Amino acid sequence: MSEIKQTKHKLEIVKNGQDRSPDTSYTEYLSQDSKKVPDFMVEENFEYLGSDDIDTSRYISREFFEKEKECMWTRVWQFACRVEDIPEVGDSLVYDILDWSFLIVRSDENTIKAFYNSCLHRGRRIKTERGFGNQLECPFHGFCWHLDGSLKFTPAPWDFAHIKDKDFSLPEVRVEIWQGFVFINMDDNAVPLEEYLAPIPEHHKRWDLGNCKKVIHVSKVVPGNWKTVQEAFMESFHATLIHPEILPFQADENARYDLYGDHMNRNIALTGKPSPNLKNVDEQEILDTIFYGSGRMAADDKIIVPEGEEARKVAAQAMREAFAAADGHDYSDASDAEMLDAIVYNVFPNFSPWGGFPKNLIYRFRPNGNREDSAIMEAMFLQRNHKDPEKQEPYEPIPIHYLSEDENWEDAEELTGIGYIFDQDMGNIPEVERGIRTNKRGKLTYANYQESRLRHWHRTIDKYIAKGPFKP
Ligand code: FES
Ligand SMILES: [Fe+2]
Repeated sequence: MSEIKQTKHKLEIVKNGQDRSPDTSYTEYLSQDSKKVPDFMVEENFEYLGSDDIDTSRYISREFFEKEKECMWTRVWQFACRVEDIPEVGDSLVYDILDWSFLIVRSDENTIKAFYNSCLHRGRRIKTERGFGNQLECPFHGFCWHLDGSLKFTPAPWDFAHIKDKDFSLPEVRVEIWQGFVFINMDDNAVPLEEYLAPIPEHHKRWDLGNCKKVIHVSKVVPGNWKTVQEAFMESFHATLIHPEILPFQADENARYDLYGDHMNRNIALTGKPSPNLKNVDEQEILDTIFYGSGRMAADDKIIVPEGEEARKVAAQAMREAFAAADGHDYSDASDAEMLDAIVYNVFPNFSPWGGFPKNLIYRFRPNGNREDSAIMEAMFLQRNHKDPEKQEPYEPIPIHYLSEDENWEDAEELTGIGYIFDQDMGNIPEVERGIRTNKRGKLTYANYQESRLRHWHRTIDKYIAKGPFKP
């Protein structure tokens, strides 16, 4: 269905799903960058997924949650930890998802293995938290395994004559690693990780997250369905009302949305130009709010935007210089976009590694235990290693900072400058969760473009559900 639409800038023919904000688009802004922007950022990759309403049951019904569990979570690649979380042979940690628990172990210098975290004797979880040791011992009766999962010790062996050591290794779950991210998958027939992630590995090459270390990791239980929480971070549309402080520097309604295959999509919101919903912002205000309200970079001294120049370019250049001084890398070819913009990649179903050169933000969202109305949200930051190995700080794995129910993200002081933004999102989520339950229509009406990433994930969930249950 075509129609003629009069916008403030131009008369244009638009089609369903092809309408865009009449303001300058993200792609148009890229043509003004002071450097060359990589093609994969300039190229748009959008597919109209229809305008159908979404059933509220997808967020609140136990039945739907069970379908996701049986058909989807058992088949997907899930980000479990970073390689630097378990740097020493014998380091281990636990990754829990729904009914399942996995023990991720550095079994030798070059190998990370993952096991179903269940003792082969009476089924106790072998470990409940991060640990270190040269064996994996169950605390109940003392069955014990080597780090490679082979049986090491049987308590009261006279009573277990029926056990054959070679058949009593801990069952493994598939592990693959991309750029320092350790993933697991319960489906032995799943496609290899890099194929699943495509085209992220290609896009992210430049940003080289494998050459980074995790420096912040904060976790909080949020009272909402895991998708409700995740989707609060998958569109820029809500920023106008929920995050008024960022409007001077974040272009929200004219942000970009790209969909790729079944497992990857992307939202890029430009930093350094105001929201189309905010008028009359001067360049100095833009710069001040970038430095004091975005968490991108805190400038020690106030930087002045010279007459006739743009805050975006001044900010990008200040960051190139500050980062080069801090970590020794050469950022002289890095585009303004890669220094500043919110380049939010999502990998299905629950992992979101931001692109670009500043400290990369990583999100992970998953159900809290077996609950359809409660989720765990985690925010991590990766920091680039110094170019000169001699100048690299010795790295100690950082503990996860668990926020209690009464604490806010802002209480995690390490999240300098962005905790309050998360809190603004959090204030909204319980009301979405409640409101969906009293929804008379039983349907939600998404935007065609700005909420296309939500539609995309729902479509992929449906594809997994159509395959039927899969028992690992
Ligand atoms: S349950 Fe693990 S040793 Fe008994
Ligand atoms: Fe938000």
